[in-house]
Amino acid sequence: MSRPQARLVALLLVVFACATSLRAQWAPLVTDKDAAARISWWRDAKFGLFMHWGVYSIPARGEWVQWSEQIPVDEYAKLAGQFNPDKFDPDAWAALAKEAGMKYTVLTARHHDGFALFDDPGSDFTSMRSAAHRDFVADYVKAVRKAGLHVGLYYSPLDWRYPGFFFPGIYRPSAEQLRAQYHRQLNQLASNYGKLDIVWFDGGGGDWLGFGGVTFEGGWHARPKDQRYTGAFSWQDDEAVGNLRKLQPSVIINDRTDAAADFRSREGDGALGNFENRYPWELCTTITDGPWGYDPSAKIKPLDHLIRLLVSAVGRDGNFILNVGPRPDGQIDPAQAERLREIGAWLGKYGESIYSTRGGPYLPGDFGVSTYRDKTIYLHILAPAGKTLALPALPAKILSCSALTGGTADCSQSDKGVTVTLEGNPEAIDTIVALTLASPAAEIHTIPASATAQEKRPQ
Ligand code: GLC
Repeated sequence: MSRPQARLVALLLVVFACATSLRAQWAPLVTDKDAAARISWWRDAKFGLFMHWGVYSIPARGEWVQWSEQIPVDEYAKLAGQFNPDKFDPDAWAALAKEAGMKYTVLTARHHDGFALFDDPGSDFTSMRSAAHRDFVADYVKAVRKAGLHVGLYYSPLDWRYPGFFFPGIYRPSAEQLRAQYHRQLNQLASNYGKLDIVWFDGGGGDWLGFGGVTFEGGWHARPKDQRYTGAFSWQDDEAVGNLRKLQPSVIINDRTDAAADFRSREGDGALGNFENRYPWELCTTITDGPWGYDPSAKIKPLDHLIRLLVSAVGRDGNFILNVGPRPDGQIDPAQAERLREIGAWLGKYGESIYSTRGGPYLPGDFGVSTYRDKTIYLHILAPAGKTLALPALPAKILSCSALTGGTADCSQSDKGVTVTLEGNPEAIDTIVALTLASPAAEIHTIPASATAQEKRPQ
């Protein structure tokens, strides 16, 4: 990239960084007859492992290091000559995911820096054509599959090496090369690694494209964050994703392209959001307070916080995918691995209130959230307020109730409401009370947790 190009691109740094967290939901959702069946395993699975790993793990300042420090493309490319992980052990990754109680994994096949962890004969910037001489995606897919987990790949069409990404109108040939790379690589991923369960897109679609959509009228004016790119260039997402779906008929994808999505992504602890059971969604976040890629200075989030996030997502009828950034040698930081095992130990005891449940029927309220499966409702009391919990009436007969997390729970029921009385409950991250009903909980419409509850029924 020339100097003026680099300067233009640098100007967009702040705009672009802000835009990532404020993305609108542009992608439509799938409506085909197989849509619900395709995603049903995922809705039951609830919990997955996300892994951001690539040459950016070497400088260890996060996956955005090239961009945020404006490292020239040629300089950054030298990292590929050093990326030769000697502790890469995808069986260990998969075993850890299982110990954590996770049912699927998603690995960054290629992030925004353009470095592919797979074999793309059309690019020199791959793990096959640099120090490692290895197709990490191939080994990863095999290991995860062998462990009995569902396999996911993250892929970013955007590539900072192409000025055509920022200015598709000005650098049209570059934008076309970028698009050709996207279509080619997606086709390779879909063709060469057997069955893929998830393709997790990022950086695609019109709300990301062309952040150089600015005009010079006494200053640079960035495109407002809630407006998408409307220029002439197109990723041709329908074609790329259509080909992916043809090759991988059961694959599910998120909503970061313009093609119809199977599920929506919510990003970061703060994006937990409202209860939503009209379409599948997933909260993604990091196990540390740092970036997604490896950063040894980042602090691991407390166990209770992570468990509450998981429970809060599931109680809002969503999934939860938790990210670790493996080290450049391929190992997952032992302290992070330990935290994952702790979550797994909790799920080992209380997983029946999480897996294969749906959120509700009580909507999230001050007390916490609820989940249900068959004829059982699980109250997840995240913020106990004394020994009694009063909830609005339940249009189903409660046959019995019990405290899963220790102590006892007594329930009484009238036309006016349900009262749960707790005795001798140990301090718990989540006090779980199971209500056994005489009829399936799925027959109950969602119920606001109290008359003043903020969460109203989705329309
Ligand atoms: C954010 C980060 C990006 C990461 C993504 C995962 O957008 O900027 O690097 O891959 O989150 O959702």
